[in-house]
Amino acid sequence: MSNGFDRDAQEFARGARTVVVLPDQGGSARDSDARLEETAGLAEAIGVEVVARIAYRIRAARPATLLGSGQVEMLAEEVRDRELELAVFDAALTPVQQRNLETALKCKVIDRTGLILEIFGERARTAEGRLQVELAHLDYQAGRLVRSWTHLERQRGGVGFLGGPGETQIEADRRMIRDRMTKLRRELEQVSRTRTLHRDRRQRAPWPVIALVGYTNAGKSTLFNRLTGADVMAENLLFATLDPTLRQIALPGIDKAILSDTVGFVSDLPTQLVAAFKATLEEVVSADLLVHVRDIAHPDSLAQRDDVEGVLKDLGVADTTPRIEAWNKTDLLDADDAAEVLGEAARREDVVAVSALTGDGVEALTARVAELLTASHRRYRITLDMGDGAGAAWLHQHGEVLTHWTEDEQAQFEVRMAPREYERFLRR
Ligand code: GTP
Repeated sequence: MSNGFDRDAQEFARGARTVVVLPDQGGSARDSDARLEETAGLAEAIGVEVVARIAYRIRAARPATLLGSGQVEMLAEEVRDRELELAVFDAALTPVQQRNLETALKCKVIDRTGLILEIFGERARTAEGRLQVELAHLDYQAGRLVRSWTHLERQRGGVGFLGGPGETQIEADRRMIRDRMTKLRRELEQVSRTRTLHRDRRQRAPWPVIALVGYTNAGKSTLFNRLTGADVMAENLLFATLDPTLRQIALPGIDKAILSDTVGFVSDLPTQLVAAFKATLEEVVSADLLVHVRDIAHPDSLAQRDDVEGVLKDLGVADTTPRIEAWNKTDLLDADDAAEVLGEAARREDVVAVSALTGDGVEALTARVAELLTASHRRYRITLDMGDGAGAAWLHQHGEVLTHWTEDEQAQFEVRMAPREYERFLRR
C-alpha cells in the first residue's frame, strides 16, 4: 500500500529471500509445522520467496527480542549465510522487539499483524475496503512511530544528541498520519452512509441472504463458484476474497436467494482489522443463514473452526443465526478418514460433507440450505379486508411487511415471517 508514510518495514521487494520464524511458546493447540506452513503461505501471498522455516522453542519471552540471545545469534548466522532479506515472525512483536531484531539480524523484520495488513492492502478491491485497510495500517504505524521514537530518543540521549532532526521528522510524520486518519474516517463515513442506503433498499427485497464464512483457504470461493456458476477468483492465494461478493443463487423451493462470499478468517486476526472490517462484513452479521466452510483435511481443522467462531462472536453475529458446516475437501481424505468424516456428517443435522472441487455433496448442501431457510422464514401473500386495521397491525408486528397494495377493494400484503407465525395468523 502506498500512503506516503511507509518508512518502516512495510515495503518489501517482490521475491525477497525470506525466513519464516515461529517463536513457539508452547501450549498451542496447533501443530507447529502446520503453523509454519500457514505463515509461509501468508508470506508468499505478498510475493516474497520463502527459503527457510524455523521454529524456536521459547521458555521465557525476552522483552527486548522475544527470542533468547543464543537463538538470535543462530538466526543472524542463518540470515548472513543464506543472504536473507526478510524475517517474518509468526508472533506479535512490540515495536522495540521489531527494531532490536532488525539491528541484530541485519535484515527487515515484520510480524504477523504487519504481514496481514500488507496482504489486505494488496487485496482490497472496493473503495470501502481500501479505506478501511489504510486506516488500520496507519493506526498500526502510528503506534510504532510513537513508541520507537521514544526508544530512539533514549538512544540518542545516550550519545549526546539533543532533540535533532529526527525528532522534527517524526513529529511531522505523526501529524501527517493523524491528518490522514481524520480524512480517511470522514471518507469512510460517507461511503458507509451510501452503503446503508443500498442495504436498506436490499433489505426491503424479500430474498434471504446466505453468507459463506470460513478460515482462509478453506475453499469458500471454489464453493461459491460451484453454487452460483460464477467465476470468482479462486486461487491458492490467501485472502483472495477480501470484499464480499454477492450473487443470486437458485435453491429448491425458494425463488431467489443471495449468496455472499466473504473474507477468509485467520488465527490472531489483528484486532484493528476485525474492527475495520465490521462494516464490510455486515453481510455476515445480518445474514439469514451462515454456511461455515471448513477444510476438513487440514491438520488444524478444529482450531481453525474455533478461530472462525471467535471472529463471528467478535463481529456480533447472534448465536441464534442458523448455521451449517460444510466439511470441504473430502476428496483429499484417505479411505479411513473419509469413512469417519462422512459417517459423522451423516449423523449430524448441521453438517454436510462436500468437495467443492469435484462437486460431491454440493447438491445435498443446497437441499439442506433450502430446508433451513424455509424452516426459518418464508414469504406469504396475505389478503385482508380493507377495514381490518388490527390484522394489518398484527402483520407489521409479527412479520416483515415487504409490500402492500390494494386490489379488488381488498388489502394485499407480502410478508416475510416464520411458518409458525403464519399458522398463528391463520388461527387468529
Ligand atoms: P480465501 O480467499 O483465502 O478466504 O480462500 P477461500 O476459502 O476462498 O479458498 P479458495 O476457494 O480460494 O480455495 C483455496 C484452495 O483450495 C484452492 O487451491 C482450491 O482449488 C482448493 N480447494 C477448494 N476446494 C477444494 C476441494 O474440495 N478439494 C480440493 N482438493 N481442493 C480444494
